[in-house]
Amino acid sequence: MIRPVPRLGRRDISHWFSSESTQLKLPAGYSSYRWHSSGAAALAAICAWTAAQKGRPVTVLIPGYFCSQSLRYLRALPVRMVFYALTEKLTLDYEEIRRQMNDEAIDLFVHVHYFGRIAGQQQSRAFADELGAVLIEDCAHVISPLIEREWVGDYLVFAPHKHFPLPKVGLAISRLPFDEQSSKPDRGYFAGWLLRQGLRHLISAAPTTVWCQQWMDTASDYENVSPPKRVTRATVSYLTNSESAGTSRRMNAGYLLAKLESIPGWSRLFSADETSIPYLVGMLCDTPALAEHRFGILNRRACLVMQWPDLPLELASTPRIEAQCADWLDRTLFFFVHQQLDLACWMAEIDNAIQSEKF
Ligand SMILES: Cc1ncc(COP(=O)(O)O)c(C=O)c1O
Repeated sequence: MIRPVPRLGRRDISHWFSSESTQLKLPAGYSSYRWHSSGAAALAAICAWTAAQKGRPVTVLIPGYFCSQSLRYLRALPVRMVFYALTEKLTLDYEEIRRQMNDEAIDLFVHVHYFGRIAGQQQSRAFADELGAVLIEDCAHVISPLIEREWVGDYLVFAPHKHFPLPKVGLAISRLPFDEQSSKPDRGYFAGWLLRQGLRHLISAAPTTVWCQQWMDTASDYENVSPPKRVTRATVSYLTNSESAGTSRRMNAGYLLAKLESIPGWSRLFSADETSIPYLVGMLCDTPALAEHRFGILNRRACLVMQWPDLPLELASTPRIEAQCADWLDRTLFFFVHQQLDLACWMAEIDNAIQSEKF
């Protein structure tokens, strides 16, 4: 059975019953960290603290190509979101952003490391300094803060549950100490998650996904909730020992691309250097119709691809950015490459799909 995300298995016992320190080692230059109930909550907390420090609502610059659900807490906070466009390689176009901003004051700038590729953060640092803004490096698609990379953000935000079999957990890392904050421990969600993991061992139906465009602007009240200690302890163990998962992801992506890149009608969404650890591998199709057609074939027998993301409805006020993001959504297939894929079985399913007559 091919699953889109890693699930709890026998090999995970060492992480959940690890006797290692529960303290996370931090990258050089960072002094503190805080756990949250998700990456979205970590982003919201940083914006809320900044607004509280400034004693007024804050303005945050976010790429339009962003998961709208992850902005649900920001919508309920004193935060004004301004969306920016990207280049066709999903990198930042500073001249374009400058033109768009037209000297408007910005308090926070969000730089996203898409799908595990870590790039361009030094220019974002310079740009944030120019604006006098706080820089958040959104590393939700990056496997661990402990991989050898140069981090330059005032804050780094991670979402370890996207990479490892963990219930939703977010991590914010800061250069400066965090303010003392009381948070409510979240009691209910761990038991529910564990139960669902157990049921997945018993029920082997492949998850079903449909091809569609989703736009939303839902808001949810942000609550400062912290995951239970056993979850943060396991998370520290996964983040500290991420090498083998990273090697598998890189290797899976290599095998996959060797099969896909010679097929006409699509190309890689962007190329990444060989040391990047992919979260997903994106293939950009020539047309939306071809993307939908291939999505159907690839997901007919097993769940091999997904669409990303659900888009912010607010983009309607910036038609150029809206069109750019809708185009990526309509034309890109994201392949799962996580460390638990059974290589032989997964490659057989890929072959079966791509060798089908009308692929
Ligand atoms: C780029 C990015 N940042 C942040 C998040 C939020 O992460 P979480 O699912 O932990 O709330 C997501 C979620 O998809 C994301 O794609």
